Amino acid sequence: MSKLKVIVSRAWPAEVEATLKERYDVQLNETDVAMTREEMKNALGACDAFLPTVTDPVDAEVLSTEPLRTKFIGNFGVGFNHIDLDAAKARGLTVTNTPEVLTDCTADIAMTLLLTVARRTSEGERHLRAKAWTGWRPTHLLATKVTGKTLGMIGMGRIAQAVAKRAHHGFGMNIVFVDPYPPSDDVIKEFDATQCESINEVLEISDFVSVHCPGGKETYHLLNNENIAKMKSSAFLINTARGDVVDNDALIEALKNGTISGAGLDVFEGEPSLDERFLELENAVLLPHLGSASTETRIAMGNRVLDNLAAFEAGQSPKDKLV
Ligand code: DGY
Repeated sequence: MSKLKVIVSRAWPAEVEATLKERYDVQLNETDVAMTREEMKNALGACDAFLPTVTDPVDAEVLSTEPLRTKFIGNFGVGFNHIDLDAAKARGLTVTNTPEVLTDCTADIAMTLLLTVARRTSEGERHLRAKAWTGWRPTHLLATKVTGKTLGMIGMGRIAQAVAKRAHHGFGMNIVFVDPYPPSDDVIKEFDATQCESINEVLEISDFVSVHCPGGKETYHLLNNENIAKMKSSAFLINTARGDVVDNDALIEALKNGTISGAGLDVFEGEPSLDERFLELENAVLLPHLGSASTETRIAMGNRVLDNLAAFEAGQSPKDKLV
């Protein structure tokens, strides 16, 4: 039997690329430069399986390409707001993602941001590297205690639950959340969590607010000028989900005016281009979308795509089928 033709949009961990080479007639992206829309369209006309990642906009226009050879899109990543699932379905494609394997690492980054922004450790390191440190003193770089505070979750899915586990059992934090699809009572009990009726309620009572909802049209600017103003002036906003859930202008103003105390951000509206105003804010901790960036996790994500592709090739329904 001839091997499936597979095109991969970005460089993947070497171990997973080696398996791709063994199993498929694969075109890797050795330069790791993002594909243009035209290149993606050409790929869809030239391969049986296309393996994009979360930064490749596989939208209706890209999917309208003719002739279409691709039958399978295996996304390297859990988020899929960059893929038009309706258009993919209409074209008879199977689309999969990579849930679960990145939950722990993304939760770790959320906690990293929470602790870093609360305890001002980035500021401390900058101070030290600038050779400005004159020694310990009782009022130097005073920050915010984390233990025992209230952590509000916007969305209470897998990653939020992993953050809640760390925050509640590790730091004695009280967990409150809002989610139109709440978790089971057992999960709620595990974290002694309180379900709120509205986003505003979570924002009003939380010392830390962590965003855990998918991106896309439905959650675009869910956090905006009006509701960020409901947060405590001592509170912090953490975003490891998608940048466009938070209105950049509203957040930057809130950080500048002291409407809130700080923000820890791993994702940005319009990334990878960064609104330069963030760079001037001492009370913002900024990371370049590192949630899943551990070697173990990125290998597991690649292997998850491979499992989905193998199931598809065998005529089965892949475990992570979205459409
Ligand atoms: C995802 O998978 O959606 C993350 O944003 C990147 O790991």
